[in-house]
Amino acid sequence: MTAVLNARDLTRHYLVYRGLFKGYATVQALNGVSFELEAGKTLAVVGESGCGKSTLARALTLIEEPTAGSLQIAGQEVAGADRQERKQLRRDVQMVFQNPYASLNPRQKIGDQLAEPLTINTSESRGERREKVQTMMQKVGLRPEHYQRYPHMFSGGQRQRIALARAMMLNPKVLVADEPTSALDVSIQAQVLNLFMDLQEAFNTAYVFISHNLAVVQHVADDVLVMYLGRPAEMGPNELIYARPLHPYTKALLSATPTIHPDPAKPKIKIAGELPNPLNPPSGCAFHKRCPYATERCSVEIPPLRPLDGRHVACHHAEQINA
Ligand SMILES: Nc1ncnc2c1ncn2[C@@H]1O[C@H](COP(=O)(O)OP(=O)(O)OP(=O)(O)O)[C@@H](O)[C@H]1O
Ligand SMILES: [Mg+2]
Repeated sequence: MTAVLNARDLTRHYLVYRGLFKGYATVQALNGVSFELEAGKTLAVVGESGCGKSTLARALTLIEEPTAGSLQIAGQEVAGADRQERKQLRRDVQMVFQNPYASLNPRQKIGDQLAEPLTINTSESRGERREKVQTMMQKVGLRPEHYQRYPHMFSGGQRQRIALARAMMLNPKVLVADEPTSALDVSIQAQVLNLFMDLQEAFNTAYVFISHNLAVVQHVADDVLVMYLGRPAEMGPNELIYARPLHPYTKALLSATPTIHPDPAKPKIKIAGELPNPLNPPSGCAFHKRCPYATERCSVEIPPLRPLDGRHVACHHAEQINA
């Protein structure tokens, strides 16, 4: 089976101006991220604030060009695509944001907003469009009379349903969701998550699901990509990563996640210190200053992402730590 999304060494750097005397500096927001994603599968991306999750999302949705690396959508190379092909690729990868209110037009009726992708991209009649919108509204749990309403007349959960419906109108191959439930009340997060999963099953869409909530990720992901300061720290199948994380950073993230049945046998690992300044990242392994297992080598040599025990991990000492 061919991947619908194939990222190779995706990299995005930003040049930032630091003032008259300091001049320019480079933020390595995203550094060498590679993965393959198949139809109907979910890759979850996790990591602390500023680790590059949204930067990755913007590269995958063609909102921003990568500085280096390549991206294939359904086998087509994005970099080589002409205007017309690019338009199609943009259709194939849709995005849902954390704040649905910001992505909806406050002055346009919901029905018309949902019909808009069809108006722009297809030659369907008004009646056909209306029917498709009604069907989609039903799929996401909205009622027919909601067609005539404006965004402010909905709850946060309903608005995220609308945003999801709009993203799915053209049956995209990939949906990138950047913290789609983080702004919602805890009591409705589960419902909206279940809706995401139901739609994925109905349309066989591939999801890139970004979240800092590891409990949510465990619920939705097939594969998990753990990022640290723009680089992949560990990547592999959900069950493996949660059952036996190998990277010290993954271990620390997981032991900071509250669970209903804490395992007393698993030691709690605390991450010391703050996330380093991305303008001035530590030498060697970016995590070494906070890592309880770091050695001299870690401060000099950047650990490559390498296969180990059914997943990939970027740590010099993964074997010793996990022996
Ligand atoms: N346009 C930009 N110009 C300069 N720096 C940027 C730009 N966009 C992002 N960055 C920097 O790149 C790094 C990664 O940012 P990004 O928004 O991808 O993080 P994130 O993982 O999505 O964080 P959060 O969990 O807070 O949403 C940060 O250090 C950020 O300051
Ligand atoms: Mg973000």
